Amino acid sequence: MNKLTELINKLRDTHTLSIDEYEYLIKNRNDEAVNLLREYAIENRRKYYDNKVFVRGLIEVSNICKNDCYYCGIRKSNLNCDRYRLTKNEILECCKEGYFLGFRTFVLQGGEDGTFTDNFVCDLLESIKKNHPDCAITLSLGERSKESYQRLYESGADRYLLRHETADEFHYSKLHPSDLTLYNRIRCLYDLKEIGYQVGCGFMVGSPHQTTKNIALDLKFIEEFQPDMCGIGPFIPHKDTIFSNEKAGDPDLCCFLLSIIRLIKPNILLPATTALGTVRNDGREKGILSGANVIMPNLSPLSVRKKYALYDGKISTGEESAQSLNKLKKSMNAIGYEVVVSRGDINKNNL
Ligand code: 5AD
Repeated sequence: MNKLTELINKLRDTHTLSIDEYEYLIKNRNDEAVNLLREYAIENRRKYYDNKVFVRGLIEVSNICKNDCYYCGIRKSNLNCDRYRLTKNEILECCKEGYFLGFRTFVLQGGEDGTFTDNFVCDLLESIKKNHPDCAITLSLGERSKESYQRLYESGADRYLLRHETADEFHYSKLHPSDLTLYNRIRCLYDLKEIGYQVGCGFMVGSPHQTTKNIALDLKFIEEFQPDMCGIGPFIPHKDTIFSNEKAGDPDLCCFLLSIIRLIKPNILLPATTALGTVRNDGREKGILSGANVIMPNLSPLSVRKKYALYDGKISTGEESAQSLNKLKKSMNAIGYEVVVSRGDINKNNL
């Protein structure tokens, strides 16, 4: 057996590899390895989720952010960004429409906007839960204190997405100004887990300065942290950032990593991200066929969708929008998957 096959079998059987082994797998991958990993990934996913794909309605609540992450289009120093913030009522309206369309999870994502105080978000969460008690709420509002996460949890938040961005401190410092640290990011992730949230981490594939070793460290971190969810998507340059001339991440590598992450944690909830759908027309289908099982259509009001531009060319009004759920169902059926309407919590027992 060649070394690649050996490593892939080992990953399938033990759900762990060393950092050097991950690095080898990524560096030396070939078509055969891609296909074998994908086959194992699908087999593992089937044990927990059959052929089901979960959908989450993504509501981009604000593009105002106090942070200045070098890669991100809504970073505070981007003066060309047309800023907006949804009101409580607008967010409740999005949920109402989403509920009508069939969504049972709402993801409230936004920049680190100081207006989203604990009091504001708690009140919002309580209203959403009152209107839609059968729905799960995911927050993606960045770094906050443990006390804040605790209060939001008590007001009804079920899940929290906070990508770790990179598990390598030096790489972290190449992507963020010095007031943002990997240490605090990881602290947040462990706080969230301890409180009881279903927690998601994640990173960009092909972000500037990223090495294969960095990706291997990301995979090791995922192994150790055991997140319930993991968001990965290709880096895509944004014209108003210092990385405007960098090239976009490789969607095929992203799909390869989706298969690996599925094998690291077979019951993980793994989205085929909007970024993957942006760099490739069939990105989301390819993501599902590589081991992903979640899609997050855009449910933000049409008037703000273009403004939530983390990167250039972000798709937002075509088939990836929440309003096109029927088209999404059809495109998933066409590749043998079924979009289901349910909260879609993590499954801790085999089917
Ligand atoms: N390309 C791809 N993904 C990006 N994100 C931010 N900027 C970009 C970009 N230019 C991702 C980050 C963040 C998530 C909300 O979006 O990983 O955590």
